[in-house]
Amino acid sequence: MLFIFLSESSIASSIGVYGKYGMVSSRSALASNVGIDIMRAGGNAVDSAVATAFALAVTYPSAGNIGGGGFALVRLPNGNVVSLDHREKAPKTAHRNMYLDSEHNVINKLSTQSHLAAGVPGSVDGLLLLLETYGSMSRTQVISPALKLARNGFPLSYDLAQQFTTVLGKMKLYPASLEKFSKDGEPYIVGEIWRQPDLAKTLKIIMNKGRPGFYEGSVASLIVQEMERNNGSISASDLADYRSVWRTPVTGSYRGYEIWGMGPPSSGGILVIQMLNMLEPFDLESMGYGSSASIHHMVEAKRRAYADRAEYLGDPDYYPVPIGMLLDKDYARQRFADFDVASASSSENIDPGIWFKESPETTHFSVIDNKGTMVSFTTTLNSSYGNKIVVPGTGILLNNEMNDFSIKKDTPNQYQLIGREANAIEPGKRMLSSMSPTIVTKDGNPFLITGSQGGSRIITTVLQVIINVIDHGMQLGDAVTLPRIHHQWLPDQIIHDKYAISSDTRNRLSALGHKNIVESKSGIGDANSILVRGKAIFGVKDPRAEGAAVGY
Ligand code: DON
Repeated sequence: MLFIFLSESSIASSIGVYGKYGMVSSRSALASNVGIDIMRAGGNAVDSAVATAFALAVTYPSAGNIGGGGFALVRLPNGNVVSLDHREKAPKTAHRNMYLDSEHNVINKLSTQSHLAAGVPGSVDGLLLLLETYGSMSRTQVISPALKLARNGFPLSYDLAQQFTTVLGKMKLYPASLEKFSKDGEPYIVGEIWRQPDLAKTLKIIMNKGRPGFYEGSVASLIVQEMERNNGSISASDLADYRSVWRTPVTGSYRGYEIWGMGPPSSGGILVIQMLNMLEPFDLESMGYGSSASIHHMVEAKRRAYADRAEYLGDPDYYPVPIGMLLDKDYARQRFADFDVASASSSENIDPGIWFKESPETTHFSVIDNKGTMVSFTTTLNSSYGNKIVVPGTGILLNNEMNDFSIKKDTPNQYQLIGREANAIEPGKRMLSSMSPTIVTKDGNPFLITGSQGGSRIITTVLQVIINVIDHGMQLGDAVTLPRIHHQWLPDQIIHDKYAISSDTRNRLSALGHKNIVESKSGIGDANSILVRGKAIFGVKDPRAEGAAVGY
């Protein structure tokens, strides 16, 4: 049974779905339904998340994937929270200057749209490890819904048909991509049935053989052959050696709630907690949502946290990320000590923080089941449709995650983020991410699952969903829907959703010294979230994009 609730006290189009036993909120209604069917058949939230992720690889191909990577944050029924890093890795032959010419200039598009842009994919290893460790169902049970969707096809939504039409231009060099996403080069039309026979074959091999079905054997050979034909660098041994890693989640507290996030190689969890720590001493509630005062406070926290990101964050297996320092409340207070309530600081004058203490650092979906297992899962190919290259014979679209490395010191990547030594390219290293799958609990009990897509804007999206719920007391629908603002230190500008900043708020912000205030061309984030109140579960699909929250 599916109930729609429309709260009388809500302000925005606060349409959410109410569920009693479980909920999946994702970017694709087909995939959310797959996840719910799995729970109805007796699966737990992990089974459901794994099935949803495989389905997204079929029904939401721009970001759902088996050729990319991601992070899963899971709260178990006993209250423990674990996180699985299945982020892509740099191939073994990768090196620091691989995207630079002989004069050390960045070679256009090499790290975004080429075979060399692909990191070694982690999704299949991660999903299967999650299933084996915390799932209760078989591979066949959780992969067959995706397999059926790939083999039998499904009617294309307006959104997908539009996306395919737009992306075809960038795929013209790659026959297997054109074959998958068009009818001999002709765009698909909304409502047409879209089938992916090669992907169905690949899913079947993975279903039958497990991990080796992707990382060894015929699928791996096809990936390696495609690399060899096109100067790519992923080798058979890169694939065979890929392993996901269980990481200790990062954790903090905010006004009596426990915040759980993904640690490095994501920057998301650390930055969310660091910004909450900076903001906790201030009364955002009485400043009010959307006021110049609350925007000023948030922008200044964001500016400082993103400056730390550029300096300190990278793969912890390769760089000593000062996790303890970055999560420490005293550090955050010290970092924010130069905050001036009456004046904007300038990013030029904000350097990464230093610790003065004597002792010592894209698509998201949310799932919950009736035992309180919560899964916060963000996965990506990096750009929409990754590097646009489908490996012939497999239906697998490759990621372009290598662009998330700092390909040259202090040079902006496609999200305008800069980085340094901590995120320089090294063989086998994981590139720094902004993905921020997040879980909030209250006294150890389930409260909120959130996360987003949006590159560098993921982190500030998550921050605002949390602040909207906890500080402003919003219903989840409002918290997710209402316009957001973003700042990332450099470039020194406030980016905002339409309607986020009224003209008098803009005037006040300008008077405080915030010079560049720019409306975003696209919605900021896509935060598919779930909130628990007592025995009721509320799911909200971010209205900035298609998809559905489905409950039962
Ligand atoms: O890991 C990251 O931070 C990026 N590769 C995420 C990409 C993303 O969110 C794309 N969506 N707009």
